[in-house]
Formats: sequence, structure tokens, C-alpha cells
Amino acid sequence: MRTGFQNMHSALRSLGIVVAIVVFGCGETKTPTQESIAKPPSKASIKRAYTMKCSLCHGSNGKLMASNAPDLSQSKLDLDSRIALITYGKGMMPPQRGVLDAATIRGIAEYIETFREP
Ligand code: HEC
Repeated sequence: MRTGFQNMHSALRSLGIVVAIVVFGCGETKTPTQESIAKPPSKASIKRAYTMKCSLCHGSNGKLMASNAPDLSQSKLDLDSRIALITYGKGMMPPQRGVLDAATIRGIAEYIETFREP
């Protein structure tokens, strides 16, 4: 009788450990980075980030050319080069790494393509 109770008790305890591992395992896979990949920034938030971080020098249509900034409507850079330049900065242009998340930087790089004129 007593042994039976003890067996059940230890069985419940190991079940508890298994449950803890499963719960902890799930918690671990759900990092903020993966959440932002699952939920991309909206067009509105990308435009807002451009206005706050970029329009000071480039203007709302890319043509302002303040602080010697080049006219973005004439830019010939490909998408990857633009993402790298926005991430790491160049000359007078401030880096956005650690300021904007990667998905927003990519979104802005795509957004400024719409400024491009043939
Ligand atoms: C302080 C002014 C300033 C701000 C703010 C700024 N830029 Fe720039 N940007 C520049 C300057 C200056 C250059 C030229 C860098 C060089 O070649 O030395 C440049 C270059 C670029 C280029 C390369 C264009 C080309 O074809 O050579 C892109 C694209 C660009 N900026 C996008 C952005 C975006 C997107 C943001 C906002 C995240 C931003 N910039 C914020 C000043 C700025």
C-alpha cells in the first residue's frame, strides 16, 4: 500500500518534469526575432520610420539632398546594397543597425525604390 503510493508519487513527479521541459522548450523557440519575421512591419510603420529617420536629409520623395545626401530617385543601387548601406551607414549617413529592426530596414529599402524615376 505504502510502496504503491510512493510509486505513483514519483511517477507524478517525473510527469511534472516532462511537462516542465515541454513548456520551457516551447517558450525557448518563441524569440522576439521570430515573431517579427512572422509579423512583418506594416506599410504605414515603414513610411513612418522613413519620415523619422531619413526624410531629414533625403526628403519625403528622396530628392531633398540635404547634408550632401544623394537624390534617391536617381539611385542605381540594388536592394542588397541599399539594405547594407542603411544598416551600416556611410559618410554623413547614420547607421540604423540597433535603431531599426532588420525587417523595417528591408521595408524602407523597398519603399525608396518607389522614388526611382526612369
Ligand atoms: C544625416 C543625413 C542623412 C540621413 C538622416 C539619411 N541619409 Fe541616406 N545618405 C546621406 C548621405 C550624405 C549619403 C551619401 C553617402 C556617401 O556616399 O558617402 C546617403 C546615401 C544614401 C543612399 C545611397 C544612394 C546612392 O545611390 O548612392 C541611400 C539608399 C540612402 N542614403 C537611404 C537612406 C535611408 C533609407 C535613410 C533612413 C534610414 C537615410 N538614408 C538617412 C545622408 C543621410
